[in-house]
Amino acid sequence: MVNKSENWNLTVLRDALAASTSAADIVSNTLLSKPDATISFPTGSTPLGMFDVLAARTARGEADFSNVTVFCLDEYVGVTVADPNSLTRWLSEALLERIGVKPEQLHKLPVTAVDLVESAAEYDRTVSARGGLDLAILGLGPNGHIGYNEPGSSADSRTRVITLTAESRSQASAYWGGSLTVPDRAMTMGVATLLESKQIVLLVTGEAKADMLRRTLQEPMSAEVPASWLRMAGSRLTIIADEAAASGLSIARSG
Ligand code: PGA
Repeated sequence: MVNKSENWNLTVLRDALAASTSAADIVSNTLLSKPDATISFPTGSTPLGMFDVLAARTARGEADFSNVTVFCLDEYVGVTVADPNSLTRWLSEALLERIGVKPEQLHKLPVTAVDLVESAAEYDRTVSARGGLDLAILGLGPNGHIGYNEPGSSADSRTRVITLTAESRSQASAYWGGSLTVPDRAMTMGVATLLESKQIVLLVTGEAKADMLRRTLQEPMSAEVPASWLRMAGSRLTIIADEAAASGLSIARSG
């Protein structure tokens, strides 16, 4: 369905597998129309199903990522890919190596730079110089973050260093069974940087996200829920949710 006043698209599918496949279809279509597309992928548990679909399509020769450029969405400050906390390393193992994206096709966030402010701005300028990403796929944080744009992030925020909330740090630590201490700062692509993307997909699954998805889509846009700013992208935004995640929305199932 299309939101009448703001014009963004919402697709609600039966379960996480169907939602993952639908998100993978958008990636595949982007590749078909622009083989050298610039793309960002989310980390977290939500995109794993989509990653499996994309890896299977690559193995069958149905998707070709050999000419894409991938921009990392977020990374912890001071962390190298050798660090078990590294989101870049996680993304490489969970997806990029499986779809044949080579290290030289990947733009890493400059989290070990001496001047983090200038380096973040330079990363931002690199994305903007390309007219924004062709496709940004995002997950929805339990606290409404996108990338690591935590609550308080404004619509005009650019790529920068941000202090993480305790909630985000414990969410991240839980991925490793609580065994790692997660750094307290990260560099993230900014909300405004993401809003420049030609297409944005917000992939949301599971009942635990239902109330945050409702706040994202049905409350006034605000920095309290950074994901709500994505609605400013209008028709360039597609939200793909499973029925569980959409269960708090006052809409009918559309797919
Ligand atoms: P999750 O994380 O997919 O593990 O729920 C989403 C996010 O924080 O962006």
